Amino acid sequence: MGTIRTKRTLQVWKIVALWTVAAAALSSAAAAKRRAAGGERAAAGSCARAHAASVEDFGAVGDGATSNTAAFAAAVAHLARFESDGGAMLVVPPGRWLTGPFNITCSHFTLFLHRHAVILASQNISEWPAIDPLPSYGRGRDLPGPRYSNFIMGSNLTDVIITGDNGTIDGQGKFWWDKFHKKELDHTRGHLLEIMYSDHVLISNLTFVDSPFWTIHPVYSSNVIISGVTILAPTDSPNTDGIDPDSCSYVRIEDCYIVSGDDCIAVKSGWDEYGIAFNMPSQHIVIKRLTCVSPTSSLIALGSEMSGGIRDVRAEDVTAINTESGVRIKTSVGRGGFVRDVFVRGMTLHTMKWVFFMTGGYGQHPDDNYNPNALPVIEDIHYSNAVAENVSMVASLDGIRGDPFRGICISNVTAGVTELKKKKVQWNCTDVEGVWSDVAPRPCMSLRDKGTYEAPCKFPEERLPIESVEINPCSF
Ligand SMILES: *[C@@H]1O[C@H](CO)[C@@H](O)[C@H](O)[C@H]1NC(C)=O
Ligand SMILES: *[C@@H]1O[C@H](CO)[C@@H](O)[C@H](O)[C@H]1NC(C)=O
Ligand SMILES: *[C@@H]1O[C@H](CO)[C@@H](O)[C@H](O)[C@H]1NC(C)=O
Ligand SMILES: *[C@@H]1O[C@H](CO)[C@@H](O)[C@H](O)[C@H]1NC(C)=O
Ligand SMILES: *[C@@H]1O[C@H](CO)[C@@H](O)[C@H](O)[C@H]1NC(C)=O
Ligand SMILES: *[C@@H]1O[C@H](CO)[C@@H](O)[C@H](O)[C@H]1NC(C)=O
Ligand SMILES: *[C@@H]1O[C@H](CO)[C@@H](O)[C@H](O)[C@H]1NC(C)=O
Ligand SMILES: *[C@@H]1O[C@H](CO)[C@@H](O)[C@H](O)[C@H]1NC(C)=O
Repeated sequence: MGTIRTKRTLQVWKIVALWTVAAAALSSAAAAKRRAAGGERAAAGSCARAHAASVEDFGAVGDGATSNTAAFAAAVAHLARFESDGGAMLVVPPGRWLTGPFNITCSHFTLFLHRHAVILASQNISEWPAIDPLPSYGRGRDLPGPRYSNFIMGSNLTDVIITGDNGTIDGQGKFWWDKFHKKELDHTRGHLLEIMYSDHVLISNLTFVDSPFWTIHPVYSSNVIISGVTILAPTDSPNTDGIDPDSCSYVRIEDCYIVSGDDCIAVKSGWDEYGIAFNMPSQHIVIKRLTCVSPTSSLIALGSEMSGGIRDVRAEDVTAINTESGVRIKTSVGRGGFVRDVFVRGMTLHTMKWVFFMTGGYGQHPDDNYNPNALPVIEDIHYSNAVAENVSMVASLDGIRGDPFRGICISNVTAGVTELKKKKVQWNCTDVEGVWSDVAPRPCMSLRDKGTYEAPCKFPEERLPIESVEINPCSF
């Protein structure tokens, strides 16, 4: 590789050698082949790969100033050769590693960040190529046409692990937010991490900071686990959603802490006529032990882009502090699609504008070619066991005229209303239908009281297969 090895590089190599020997002892070549063939591997896989290298071995310098774009590209290209030979791991050692966007180009790949490793996104805009818009959106979200590259992206992969000992991926988003506010950008901003058309993806034990746009964006993918992730962005930063599963199946999000300028989690599935044509739902999604701070947005949003449909979303043991709303449904005439079978059990909320929030008139269309007769179907939405305090207004439930949101069930909820910003009307409901039991303050008349001793709202008994997948510890 023709680079001068520093003492630290040599140490890394020594560890790599030891680790490789240990890994080889643990997993025979036959097992590696089986893994590569996608045989009996668990969804989260093992981060142990037959090959490993450090970015330093490709000339990277972790001083926070040197551009390492070529080094990251060379490292990934080198490791991609081992895709069908037991896979490979790219290690990012302690240091501040400035780089332009890079692609993960092979399956059976692990990116591992040391505890004191920070990958810094370049602010040289000519390093950010324009890439195709997502087919289910038809255009960039901010602007028509292509979009800026994501910082880290991977497409058409199987068995990818992005993890670390809580290392950091820093998008240096202020550069992008300022340009966005000044309308100086030619395209929509990129995501900090986008994994597209992939299966068996694990993102864990990392901190993501200051994304240009949405932070973690799994799209058209399945069997995705996001665990132990911290996501931080200023609460006034534009569109810095935390985690946005988009047209994905079997997604498990757990033990995450998110502070953001937009929704902490937003489940999506494409935009108006493009999403209807692409027709790929988000489904079988489980969210557990999430803590969110988002003063202008929601703990969990469903939509507003939901034209491929959203079904079977289960959220349990979720907390929001100083956040606009709890779980929010956002949609519009023209979206088509559906949001159904949503189950939320155990919400703890402090200092909120709304506990329950549904918006049928969200607006925002990609262009004028959306179908005004494409009405979304919103039904079977279940909320149970919520405690909220210091709330301005309990609920704003706003369906669509002639297309009511049906089958709403709310049970065992207490909301303490703030004296400061208290609204006269605590429940404002239009074009919604459903039932409630054990809810205080008392809900609106659109929802029928089914009585205190009736069964609580539903929550599925059986677990999803993705919930049983064990995550193998990954260390380096
Ligand atoms: C990453 O891959 C996409 C195609 O998926 C391509 O358009 C883009 O230029 C690649 N980015 C880099 C930095 O190589
Ligand atoms: C920005 O990136 C371009 C394209 O990679 C490169 O030619 C140029 O030297 C970089 N500019 C700076 C200031 O690093
Ligand atoms: C990735 O997979 C999608 C869906 O299967 C396919 O349409 C696309 O052509 C693939 N892209 C590449 C680069 O193989
Ligand atoms: C990871 O780092 C973030 C940011 O420094 C910190 O807030 C969080 O508590 C850390 N998580 C763990 C598990 O150490
Ligand atoms: C009602 O909700 C609280 C917490 O929000 C929970 O502790 C309690 O067990 C629930 N009651 C029932 C009957 O489920
Ligand atoms: C209650 O909410 C208001 C905003 O509505 C906020 O200003 C105040 O600090 C909150 N009080 C507590 C005790 O959190
Ligand atoms: C109730 O909701 C309707 C429809 O969104 C809105 O026009 C009205 O202003 C709301 N009323 C209150 C008191 O918030
Ligand atoms: C992430 O951290 C947790 C807690 O420290 C640990 O149990 C788990 O194995 C780690 N996951 C990976 C993939 O290393």
